[in-house]
Amino acid sequence: MNRAPTNLIPLNRAQPHGAGTNGGQAVRRAPKERILHMEGIQKVYGTSVAVENTTLELFAGEILTLLGPSGCGKTTTLRLAIGLERATKGRIWFKDQLVDAPEDRVFVSPDKRDMGMVFQSYAIWPHMDVFGNVAYPLRVRRRKADEIRQEVEKALDLVGLTGFGNRPGTKLSGGQMQRVAVARGLVFGPDLLLMDEPFSNLDAKLRDQMRSELKLLQRRLGISVLFVTHDQSEALALSDRIAVMQAGRIEQSGDPKELYYYPQTTAVRDFLGRTLNFKGRIMARSHGNSATVELTEGVICEAAGADHTQSSAIHSPCVASIRPEHVKVSPLEGAGIPGSGYLTGNILTLLFIGDRYEASICLKSGMIVTVFLPCDENWAEGQAVKLQLPPDRIQLWKSEAAQ
Ligand SMILES: Nc1ncnc2c1ncn2[C@@H]1O[C@H](COP(=O)(O)OP(=O)(O)OP(=O)(O)O)[C@@H](O)[C@H]1O
Ligand SMILES: [Mg+2]
Repeated sequence: MNRAPTNLIPLNRAQPHGAGTNGGQAVRRAPKERILHMEGIQKVYGTSVAVENTTLELFAGEILTLLGPSGCGKTTTLRLAIGLERATKGRIWFKDQLVDAPEDRVFVSPDKRDMGMVFQSYAIWPHMDVFGNVAYPLRVRRRKADEIRQEVEKALDLVGLTGFGNRPGTKLSGGQMQRVAVARGLVFGPDLLLMDEPFSNLDAKLRDQMRSELKLLQRRLGISVLFVTHDQSEALALSDRIAVMQAGRIEQSGDPKELYYYPQTTAVRDFLGRTLNFKGRIMARSHGNSATVELTEGVICEAAGADHTQSSAIHSPCVASIRPEHVKVSPLEGAGIPGSGYLTGNILTLLFIGDRYEASICLKSGMIVTVFLPCDENWAEGQAVKLQLPPDRIQLWKSEAAQ
């Protein structure tokens, strides 16, 4: 999608509920028709449980991302949504229609669910040209030749591939194949587009570009997207809401900022972004959410962020966590003042990554942490630094051993 698509006419679909236009730009309005609803879904293969007790809802015009490590059940959940797999237990509704409910002997086949799918491998048929690939879903739906030609042209235009219709499927770059796959997913005007790690085979720059273009396209068409990735920055950048999956279950779902700033479980905390986790002991509790914690680094600090220790007793072990961008780093003058509430250490490595330095710091205890430093200041490997942890940025967790 190298150039901005000029044809902004939605494909053969009505303007979605909950979306309006404003000077040609799609505007999303609050709530919201429910497009997909999975309730209490379980999928068992032989003796292994791929998806367990999963409930999720996806609303019109939003991008919901399933995020989680390899093998946690993301693809299986997508395949269940579109009907390429049957649930072992639970119920799935597409819009208001029950499409899968084993206990009620209900199953609606994929061709009768109005969903487009973009596979991780793109699944471009090599024996067809670009036109044939994109036209396929329309042919399956027995649309007339004229309509097929028009809709394929519109879809190719939308993904920036105008004039590529005659190009053989084998003579496309990775990015072009990706666009063909998106055009094929969109061409019949589905109510829901399912995308399984669609950008994972692209190089970093193209991946970033495709992400913004997908978001732009999705906003223009007002289409709903169920997106799958194991890449947390992709999920944060692209999604209206994220559901973090772990071992077949959804651990937590919410908007990206909510998940990033207020993770409810250690799995979500550690999967989304980076965290510095310091072991310590709870020394005292004051009113509200604040606690005094002694870190094993020998430093006493206040923690006033979310408290997940469930009010563990005084002297209980705990973990104080903070995002690296919230740590205030400054040069250490002299030896530092004991008991001043900051950690001290030396810069081990300094990686210049364009907009900032990523610095590994070896703390006095030998623990190595990674923090970010502004690159318009002078830093040097070996330099002594102090690390201040703002109380309201520190979250407390039960120590792993105690969990
Ligand atoms: N057809 C199958 N038969 C048996 N087990 C399967 C089948 N499909 C998936 N599984 C298992 O179900 C679990 C979930 O697989 P799934 O493909 O949904 O994971 P995923 O989150 O998409 O992983 P990845 O990020 O690697 O694509 C895995 O343990 C996998 O081995
Ligand atoms: Mg997968």
